[in-house]
Amino acid sequence: MNDVLPEEMGRWHRVEQIYARTMSLYGYREVRTPYVESTGLFSRAIGEATDVVEKEMYSFVHHDEPLTLRPEGTAGAARAYIEHNVHATEPVTRWWYGGAMFRAERPQRGRYRQFYQLGAELFGDAGPGCDAEMIDMLVQFLRELRIPDLKVLVNTLGGPRTRALYRDALVQYLTPKIGLLSETSRRRLTTNPLRILDSKNEQDREAVRGAPTLHDFLGEEDIAHFQAVRAQLDKLCTPYTVEDKLVRGLDYYTRTLFEIVGATEKLGAGSTLVGGGRYDFMVADLGGPQVPAIGYAAGLERLVIASELGVTDKVIDALVAPLGAPGCLAMMEGVVLARDLRKSGIRCEVDTRGTSLKGQLRRANTLGARMVLILGEDELAQGTVQVKDLDAHTQEAMPRDQAIRNVVDRLMAASRSVDSRPPRETT
Ligand code: HAM
Repeated sequence: MNDVLPEEMGRWHRVEQIYARTMSLYGYREVRTPYVESTGLFSRAIGEATDVVEKEMYSFVHHDEPLTLRPEGTAGAARAYIEHNVHATEPVTRWWYGGAMFRAERPQRGRYRQFYQLGAELFGDAGPGCDAEMIDMLVQFLRELRIPDLKVLVNTLGGPRTRALYRDALVQYLTPKIGLLSETSRRRLTTNPLRILDSKNEQDREAVRGAPTLHDFLGEEDIAHFQAVRAQLDKLCTPYTVEDKLVRGLDYYTRTLFEIVGATEKLGAGSTLVGGGRYDFMVADLGGPQVPAIGYAAGLERLVIASELGVTDKVIDALVAPLGAPGCLAMMEGVVLARDLRKSGIRCEVDTRGTSLKGQLRRANTLGARMVLILGEDELAQGTVQVKDLDAHTQEAMPRDQAIRNVVDRLMAASRSVDSRPPRETT
């Protein structure tokens, strides 16, 4: 598990802000579900034979009740959707969420045991248009974050019947080759054979070469759905690759599946930024109505590492620098002046340690403050403040009220000139 220190938060907030804006552009509303759910919810929704449920959940029993720290957000969202009878009032529901998830995985760069996801779930639209629109929305978002080497992988799993037929065919094909399989895959041959297709193990890869593909078992409607998703992606000019061995690690998917990778140089093996797909039967399987759904989640740490957006980490706009010993009149006036600046919307800090002017200027620099308001004995006697502009390299004494106005004007003018710059082009 990972600490996120204040100096990294600027980048986190930037990604979160861009995500929240993207979500509102597409009509998604934020939902917050609990960090803890009943263990049975995850085993039913995600599948008993998945890595997540088999070995990665933090589960515990509290007063005889089996509980689990959520390893992902989809099951909880579907539970909330059913519990609050949302389908009765909304034909189509678009929810987004952000928050911590927990999986007992082996940590590496971009993979943690407590990690944050930004995700979304769309209930009530079975049409292929929304699959493609969701993928394109993600590409727009990731481009805005300036993430290099984006690659969209898509596949279709068909419906439950296709999966059952394919599962049988795969087991038939792999059983004579069982000696070639890794230990994990040998076990998966009975529990979850589709996962063998995902294996990175060389022996397994060799064994599945030449295996029947799921596409041979797709029904007509599944094929039509996938073709329509692809046609819509083409229409949107969203680049993608069909990856027919993509199955993903959660059992609930049907039809469209997708992953987006990026920044491979920085992230290496953990370069999957987003994973998602359709899960048209989860809501019904959990006891709700037959409502189709599709969603995805992105790993926030990975987005932060991958994004090449420059973030200026200015903690404050102004530093109030009283001179003298701690507790002197200048200090007391300084604290009041800082409060008055904040009333005008200026982010500021006051240094009451009794440090030298040089030390206080160094602190202003560290915090990214452009303005320094110096209050010494002379200024106190005259009711003035020295206003120092570190960008413009100017310093001027002026009456206290005028000093506040002056600081506000300078900072406003600077923020206007930033706002009026043409938007930066995204790649
Ligand atoms: P997932 O593929 O398990 O899907 O996770 C989605 C993303 O979360 C991954 O692509 C990765 O970026 C990030 N992630 C997963 N595990 C870790 C980890 N241990 N450390 C850091 N990042 C991680 C889901 O969770 C599904 N609920 C997505 C979904 C929503 N499908 C439909 N709706």
